[in-house]
Amino acid sequence: MDLLQEIEKLENLFTIDTAKLKQITEHFVNELEKGLSVEGGSIPMNPTWVMSFPTGYETGTYLALDMGGTNLRVCQITLTDQKSEFDIIQSKYRMPEELKTGEADELWEYIADCLMQFIETHHGDSVKLDKLPLGFTFSYPATQNYIDEGVLQRWTKGFDIAGVEGHNVVPMFEEALRRRGVPIKLTALINDTTGTLIASAYTDTKMKIGCIFGTGCNAAYMENCGSIPKLAHLNLPPDTPMAINCEWGAFDNEHKVLPTTPYDETIDRGSPRPGQQAFEKMIAGLYLGEIFRLVMVDLHDKPGTHIFDGQDISALRKAYSLDSSFLSAIEEDPFENLSETAELFHNRLGIYTSGPELELIRRTAELIGTRAARLSACGVAAISKKKGFASCHVGADGSVFNKYPHFKARGAKALREILEWPEKANEKEEDPIEILAAEDGSGVGAALIAALTLERVKAGNMHGILHPENFK
Ligand code: GLC
Repeated sequence: MDLLQEIEKLENLFTIDTAKLKQITEHFVNELEKGLSVEGGSIPMNPTWVMSFPTGYETGTYLALDMGGTNLRVCQITLTDQKSEFDIIQSKYRMPEELKTGEADELWEYIADCLMQFIETHHGDSVKLDKLPLGFTFSYPATQNYIDEGVLQRWTKGFDIAGVEGHNVVPMFEEALRRRGVPIKLTALINDTTGTLIASAYTDTKMKIGCIFGTGCNAAYMENCGSIPKLAHLNLPPDTPMAINCEWGAFDNEHKVLPTTPYDETIDRGSPRPGQQAFEKMIAGLYLGEIFRLVMVDLHDKPGTHIFDGQDISALRKAYSLDSSFLSAIEEDPFENLSETAELFHNRLGIYTSGPELELIRRTAELIGTRAARLSACGVAAISKKKGFASCHVGADGSVFNKYPHFKARGAKALREILEWPEKANEKEEDPIEILAAEDGSGVGAALIAALTLERVKAGNMHGILHPENFK
């Protein structure tokens, strides 16, 4: 077996050169436009009814509930009198795996239970509960004709719960709360990206885009109503801001430009929603480990290659058994002889690895991680081009952004290639567009959005409000 040759083949499959990055970005800009049009496209470009940036002077106490993909989090946030400052208390709950493909009722019951438990533990009597506005971060594509509704377009991130797609999730959630006698009313349903955008802008006014690179991958930015043809019938003032949750994970579902590999195709076929989230499936944390696993199994089974020859690889055959932290660990192995990787394979999978196999493993992880970071940059570049941002900050959050080794540097390098920035004069110099660690979007961001919504309703802007009685 010639592993060098295999490495070369993988390099050809997974490497995205500058010209391709630019081509993807060009197509991306058009698709963003298309999503805003009346006909629509693959990228949903969902208006969110978040109609301003925060000033930094928002105040008050709020509840935030965050249903991401991996964890459930409940927070109480106080926006203090000090500019851009906040206090937060929070509890995290692991989202049981079986809930993701279970029954809708079980999901809402679980969420309501977590919220109730949080209130019982943390909530003093200082503020009356029914006066505490709640921001619900529901991080899936949702149509919002109003900020206090969200009709689930489709599940993403491996969720598959019947009876929710096509329905407004707010009454389902409120019903579960009502059954428990919890007198809480939802003020705003938000996406994690919109929360990230608003939370980041609370402390840094250069923030123009909010991104999540985590279990899923997506972004939000502020558009002008006049540039959203699909809202034209509402006659909103053209220069009024409107945050758009792009749902860019759906970019290029038609596979016009994305250089997909046979491994990506396998992932898609085996997912609960084949044909959906083409871009996300190449980037997001849910899939990175799985792409890697598929490569390894393929190279074991392939006649003439047979890595891990003669060994029992049954542990490796289990779908979704390796998450992106497994890849992170490989990329982080500091030793020349990759001894930590060898240990990892042995401890986790019962597989012994030779020197050349370890080289192949490391290179495969690098290729998958690098491709994800470079593709991500296309999305950021596309929004920046569409909006004409020559310089700005991008707030990013999520496990891949925060924990995956070199993700930030690889993304920044790709952005430089796409946007053709000259080399930096020195290391300390900022890039024109910097992707930075965001503030907590689904906690502080949700609270801020609830605050901004209450404020605008008070000022008489009733656009996109379904239940004005809840805002009194
Ligand atoms: C998926 C969801 C999207 C979310 C992203 C990051 O793409 O569809 O709503 O923002 O994951 O969590």
